[in-house]
Amino acid sequence: MATFQFNGRPVTPKSTDDTPLLWVIRDEIGLKGTKFGCGVAQCGACTVHIDGKATRSCVTPLAAVSGKSVTTIEALDPKGAHPLQAAWIELQVPQCGYCQSGQIMQAASLLKTTPNPTDAQIDAAMNGNLCRCMAYVRIKKAIKLAASRMQEAPHTQGAGA
Ligand code: FES
Ligand code: FES
Repeated sequence: MATFQFNGRPVTPKSTDDTPLLWVIRDEIGLKGTKFGCGVAQCGACTVHIDGKATRSCVTPLAAVSGKSVTTIEALDPKGAHPLQAAWIELQVPQCGYCQSGQIMQAASLLKTTPNPTDAQIDAAMNGNLCRCMAYVRIKKAIKLAASRMQEAPHTQGAGA
C-alpha cells in the first residue's frame, strides 16, 4: 500500500500498487479534473504534479508515488486563481476543455522552473500536450500573460504543488 501526500493531505488508497495513478485519482479518490486521453503517455490529458514536476499519471503506477507529493488541478491554487487559470479565463483559451487541466498543469510546472520562458521553451515544454481543438495559439498567449504577471507578483503555489 502506498501512502502519499495528495493535494496537501496524506492518503493511503486501497488500489493495488500497479494501478495507474490516474485511476486512483478519478475512481478511488473521486476527483475528475484529471482526464484520460490515450493511456500511453502520448497526449498529456492526465498530467499532474509529482513533487512539483509535471508527470503523466496514466503511466505512473501507484507504487511510484509512495512518500511523494501529488497535486492535481483541483489544488493547483486554493481558490482556482493561479495566474495561469486567470489568464486562461481572460483569453478564453478552452474550446471543448478536455485537454485543459493537463495543459495548465504542464504550464505550471514550466513556469516554476522557467519563470520567463521563450517561445521555444514553451513549445518544448508543451509539445507533448495535445489539443484536438487546436487551441495552441491561445494556450501559448495565456502562458506568456501568466508569466509576465508572475514576474510582477510571484504566485504562491497551492497545496503540495
Ligand atoms: S492519458 Fe496520459 S498521456 Fe494521454
Ligand atoms: S480544448 Fe478541446 S481538446 Fe483542447
